[in-house]
Amino acid sequence: MGTIDRILVIGAGTMGAQIGLVCALAGFETAVYDLAETALDRARTELEERTARAVEKGRLSEAERDAAFARLRFGTDLTGPAAKADFVIEAAVERLDVKRKLFAELDRLTPPHAILATNSSGFVPSRIADATGRPDRVCNLHFFNPAMVMRCVEIVRGPQTSDETVRATVALAERLGKLPVVLDKEIPGFVANRILGAVRDEAIRLLEGGIASVEAIDTVCRTALGYPMGPFELMDLTGIDIGYHTKKARYEESGDPQDLPSRSVTELVERGELGRKTGKGWYAYDRHGNKIEGTPWISR
Ligand SMILES: NC(=O)c1ccc[n+]([C@@H]2O[C@H](COP(=O)([O-])OP(=O)(O)OC[C@H]3O[C@@H](n4cnc5c(N)ncnc54)[C@H](O)[C@@H]3O)[C@@H](O)[C@H]2O)c1
Repeated sequence: MGTIDRILVIGAGTMGAQIGLVCALAGFETAVYDLAETALDRARTELEERTARAVEKGRLSEAERDAAFARLRFGTDLTGPAAKADFVIEAAVERLDVKRKLFAELDRLTPPHAILATNSSGFVPSRIADATGRPDRVCNLHFFNPAMVMRCVEIVRGPQTSDETVRATVALAERLGKLPVVLDKEIPGFVANRILGAVRDEAIRLLEGGIASVEAIDTVCRTALGYPMGPFELMDLTGIDIGYHTKKARYEESGDPQDLPSRSVTELVERGELGRKTGKGWYAYDRHGNKIEGTPWISR
């Protein structure tokens, strides 16, 4: 399969921007491609600010930072960087039609040896691989948010993913300073998000059953279980609509009513109360996004 020197990251959003910097810091020539110039500008600014803070705190030297930025390119041209890519990490919007179109295009534009990986949280490789003529070189390489900080990556193989692709992806993840966990069988949500989902569902059952309040459940999770934040706080952080859409998509696939979004989550989504980003969710937030202590928006 040859060596991996050049990486192409698709999408410069929350995940793509940081994944790009992780690659550049690890010594790879990295191109970050997005359709939207505004997303690229935002990504560049965010990474400059983030690395400036890391330099200030002594976690990164100025020389390392400058070398990483010298290896990092942002652009709206796909053809040029794709032609040189040894490995692609797709982190575009979570829509299957967009991803399948992108993978078909990448299959046409990248060299035959290139591995095409998706950072998708929900779509397994087999939903995407058959859009390409190289399904053996398609897998999930799933980072966690914030990608610069979180060490774990899940590598998910589909039925057609080759051993060689898995080996090369594991080796790449290690070079990026990550701890890869390989899943040999595909399942929506993989491991981390399934466990997170189970905790979230139980928390909602306890709430809707009138057993404990939002604040009580979050407090127990933080102070008894050592979670960095409670399940309701986490839903507010990631966006209540994200979990809602994931569950709806899972229900559409399974037809199992257990997979439907819960009553209280549906109510919040219908009211547009999606968490921090809208100022209200399970809790209320001030205009800087800080939780207004002692005022859970919903205390059932
Ligand atoms: N946000 C998370 O916490 C998280 C964690 C792990 C994995 N993921 C996955 O990462 C992917 C990206 O998520 P995100 O949160 O960074 O999304 P985001 O909305 O922040 O960014 C998506 C970017 O993709 C760009 N885009 C859309 N269509 C494109 C196309 N055809 N070509 C190139 N760029 C395109 C958009 O302009 C946008 O900048 C999703 O598949 C998601 O499931 C997200």
